[in-house]
Order: sequence, then C-alpha cells, then structure tokens
Amino acid sequence: MPKLIVVTRNGEEREVMGDADLSVMEVIRDNGFDELLALCGGCCSCATCHVHVDPDFAGKLPPMSEDENDLLDSSSDRDDHSRLSCQIQFTSALDGLRVRIAEED
Ligand code: FES
Repeated sequence: MPKLIVVTRNGEEREVMGDADLSVMEVIRDNGFDELLALCGGCCSCATCHVHVDPDFAGKLPPMSEDENDLLDSSSDRDDHSRLSCQIQFTSALDGLRVRIAEED
C-alpha cells in the first residue's frame, strides 16, 4: 500500500496508507480529515477537494483536464501546485506523496 502524507490547514502532518484503487481525495477522506469536504464526491464539480501537491511529484501526476483547471481558477488559494485530489488516482508510483489541504474558499 502506498503512503500518503497529509498536511492539514493548521500545519499538522500525518502519514496514512492508501489503497491504490482510490483517488487521493478518497484516501484523505477515508482517513478522517474532515476539513477536506469533497462535496461532489469526486465528480470534478465542486473544488472542495483542492490540495497543494509536493512539486517533486509533479511529473508523476495525471495531466489536468480543462474542467479541473476551470474549477481551480475559482479558488483564491490556487498556486502552481494546486490540484483537485479527486482527479488524482493514488498509485504505487505516488508512494510518499505529500499534499497540503488548501484553504477554504
Ligand atoms: S470532490 Fe468535488 S471536485 Fe473533487
């Protein structure tokens, strides 16, 4: 099982193990991080699963769709490392990935 490192809004960092069949959003949610709302359940229509991804993993992430890009534009906390965590499949290639939950919009 690959390992995911989650940093909360107040800077708390926790390592969790994730099932590779899940999205990064599902791994975060299933491990009890309530501040990641993921309101649409992974349909790429809410942007409440916004995270900042460790730049070292940028090359291993799936490409961003136009819908994801448009949704991220609605966030005031967007930066070059922003992604919607429901759009990232958690694979063994992402073992050790570190994500920080974005500020609430
Ligand atoms: S959960 Fe709604 S866009 Fe990711």
